[in-house]
Amino acid sequence: MRLPLPDAFPTEVHVLDRLEPRLLPEAPWVVIGDAAVRQTWQDSAMPEPPGSLWVQVGEAHKHLETLLPWLEHWASIPLHREAVIVAVGGGVLTDMAGLAASLFLRGLAWQAWPTTLLAQVDAGLGGKTAVNLLAGKNLAGAFHPPQRMVVCTAFLASLPSRQLESGRWELLKTALMEGDAAWAECILDEATPAEPSLVRALALKAGKVHRDLRESGERKLLNLGHTLGHALEAASEFRLLHGEAVGLGTLAACFLAESEGLPPFPEDLLQRICLRLTPLAPEIAPWDRCLPWLLRDKKAVSTGTGAAVHCVLPRSGSPAELRFLPTEAWGPAHARLLTALS
Ligand SMILES: NC(=O)c1ccc[n+]([C@@H]2O[C@H](COP(=O)([O-])OP(=O)(O)OC[C@H]3O[C@@H](n4cnc5c(N)ncnc54)[C@H](O)[C@@H]3O)[C@@H](O)[C@H]2O)c1
Repeated sequence: MRLPLPDAFPTEVHVLDRLEPRLLPEAPWVVIGDAAVRQTWQDSAMPEPPGSLWVQVGEAHKHLETLLPWLEHWASIPLHREAVIVAVGGGVLTDMAGLAASLFLRGLAWQAWPTTLLAQVDAGLGGKTAVNLLAGKNLAGAFHPPQRMVVCTAFLASLPSRQLESGRWELLKTALMEGDAAWAECILDEATPAEPSLVRALALKAGKVHRDLRESGERKLLNLGHTLGHALEAASEFRLLHGEAVGLGTLAACFLAESEGLPPFPEDLLQRICLRLTPLAPEIAPWDRCLPWLLRDKKAVSTGTGAAVHCVLPRSGSPAELRFLPTEAWGPAHARLLTALS
């Protein structure tokens, strides 16, 4: 199915249950793909034009240095301005491929074929492309939306269960951002198929991105769970997966929202989330190791009296609210997270 999105939205979004070549570009194209999914691509008889590259990628490779050989390779083919880059992989691959596409010849068109649940629900849509710097995650990047995103759920069959669970936390974040406890319960229920939630989350994200591409207003709500989440992810030295860190950060945001007087989510839902996150407790870094990362957050601003950060606070029954709070406000929420998961 093709998602009904506003006419001027820069990305066509398709959701399929098996791989089909009909959505590949008509113009000359090459694949830049994650080696982990090459077999699936080939088993489905998907074409692989000369010049395609399949690479090993992970968060540890998400640096500018990884992109340089890709750019040199495309220049040696040579790829011309009308060519299209087809990025096939998880969020690390699609973030890097999108950035490389934006740099090559000052911007080639690209398609995203995300292969993890996390990339299907989030990373592949919205035009944010980036690599990490030593100082933090995603600090060098560009807004360069793909012209087409093809979400094929067949890729999920080979995805390890930990990665599937990691993506589920981004889905849960979306449900809590909407204040929808019943939807959140559905997402936690593994027997419920992921596809309807995926389609709903993509439509919600597309609406926010369309109204606010540069993230000056409502798009910030999609960062629910990411403020403390990014700090926990970095402070764990990336032993926590991105989605896992977002799950922990989202629960901490529920605690912070409650302490700010916002309507809390039902206790049994919070309990269910706690139980599911408990195995991650050993990877939660102490507060003094998280704080330096929070102070470097892209959303943090220095004020006369210290640092403050835009915080997305979820509330039951209505969409999340954005508040500008001192960075230290996360300290008690972090402490409550540790207690709740102990
Ligand atoms: N651009 C955005 O808006 C945005 C949003 C959210 C996250 N992100 C970024 O996404 C990244 C995380 O993405 P991710 O969770 O997809 O991780 P990932 O890309 O590292 O993929 C996870 C692992 O699964 C493997 N893999 C991928 N697809 C597979 C499949 N179908 N079967 C088996 N193995 C498969 C990969 O090789 C990798 O080892 C982070 O770097 C994060 O910053 C970006």
